[in-house]
Parts: sequence; C-alpha cells; structure tokens
Amino acid sequence: MPRDDYKFLARLYDPLLASSNRGLIGVSMKMLDLTPGSRIVDLCCGTGEAVIAYAKAGYEAVGVDGSPSMLAVARPKIDTAATLIHGDAARTGFEAASFDAVTISMALHEMAPPDRDDVVVEIARILRPTGHLLAIDYDPDPVIGLKGRIGRAMTFAVERAVGGEHYAGYRHFMAHGGLPALLSRHGFHLHRRKRLTGGNLSAILFKPPGVAS
Ligand SMILES: C[S@@+](CC[C@H](N)C(=O)[O-])C[C@H]1O[C@@H](n2cnc3c(N)ncnc32)[C@H](O)[C@@H]1O
Repeated sequence: MPRDDYKFLARLYDPLLASSNRGLIGVSMKMLDLTPGSRIVDLCCGTGEAVIAYAKAGYEAVGVDGSPSMLAVARPKIDTAATLIHGDAARTGFEAASFDAVTISMALHEMAPPDRDDVVVEIARILRPTGHLLAIDYDPDPVIGLKGRIGRAMTFAVERAVGGEHYAGYRHFMAHGGLPALLSRHGFHLHRRKRLTGGNLSAILFKPPGVAS
C-alpha cells in the first residue's frame, strides 16, 4: 500500500482544485462517451469528484485510492451508488477484464517508475478488450502560448517545492515521454489526445493491448 502522502493536502485539495478538476472530468466523460450502466473505475480517485460524476451519469462507478486522508474527504460527498475502496492501484484485486473504462488523472507522473509500470499492467488486466483507458496528466511536448508557458512554469515550481520521490517521479515522467511513451510501452494504442491548458496537460484515450488501433 502506498504511504499517505496526502495527509496534509487532503483538506485543501477540493478548495484549491475541485473546480478545475470538474472541467477535466467533463472532458474525460465526453471522450469516453459511455452508455449508462457501463462499469468504470477511477484509479487514484483522490477526493472522489470523478467517481461522483460517473455515478450521477448512471455508470456503475468505483474509485480506488491509497490515501485514507483523501478518501475521508471523498466519503461524505458520496450520496449516490458509487463505491470507494482504500487500495493500491497496482494491486486492485478486481476480476480480470471487468471494466468498460478505467480513468486515472494526475497520478501517474508522481509515482516512482516501477510503481507506474505496475499500475499500467494492472489497468491492462482489469480492462475489457472492448474497453478504454482515459488518462490525464502532464504533457512533456512543447506548450502552446502564454497560458501553456505559465502553466508549465507553475507546475515545475510546485512539483519542485513538493520535492522527494514526487518530484523525482515528475522529472522522470517528463523526460521519458509522459503518457504516450508509458502506455505504448505496455501495448496500449493511443486513440485520441486532447491537449488542455495550453498543452501543459493532455487527456488521452487509449485502447487496451491486443486491440487494433
Ligand atoms: C494528485 S492526486 C490526484 C487525485 C485525482 N485523481 C484528481 O485528479 O484530482 C494523486 C492521488 O493518487 C493517489 N495515489 C498515488 N499512488 C497511488 C497508488 N499506487 N494506489 C492508489 N492511489 C494512489 C494519491 O493518494 C492521491 O490521492
């Protein structure tokens, strides 16, 4: 189980980020375009905003996070039929091929490289062959315009201030091609990519390994 690195940030997370997160969740849901009743899991679900939106849209929604502090913020907000699980995204214990969609937002960049690989292997295991992965994270490609430059500079400053393994993970992620390189190394096919916030972030829809792109 990962350490609870969000012990101190958990209470501040929604006041600082929930409104921008809702925009990202809207983009994810449009790109996934699921039908009601679809089974979806948000790995590293944090304070549960995506899981709540999925449940409200009529999906069978599950969230997994390793931080008890983040889940303690999420749980009182859940007034729908969503399920939250305290667990490691690399070892979920879900049945193989049991989800129509997996999402993971703003989490892979902060992991140590071997943990990141383990999470991607787990995503490939739990996705149905007809399913999709929608991942959102920092995009290492050159940013677009002033908005992108400001976003990237602020991101770098924040990640550096957090320091430790988190910063090392970010540096490695950015230097090794971000989501496209990571996922394609594990056999995923990039289906659609939408650059956001001046290209500082991307939302990318992937098809699982073994499926023609
Ligand atoms: C930056 S937050 C992102 C939260 C949410 N996905 C969002 O977009 O707002 C990263 C989250 O990933 C979780 N996390 C990191 N590594 C994890 C792992 N191996 N298993 C489960 N959760 C993990 C942390 O506990 C934290 O809640």
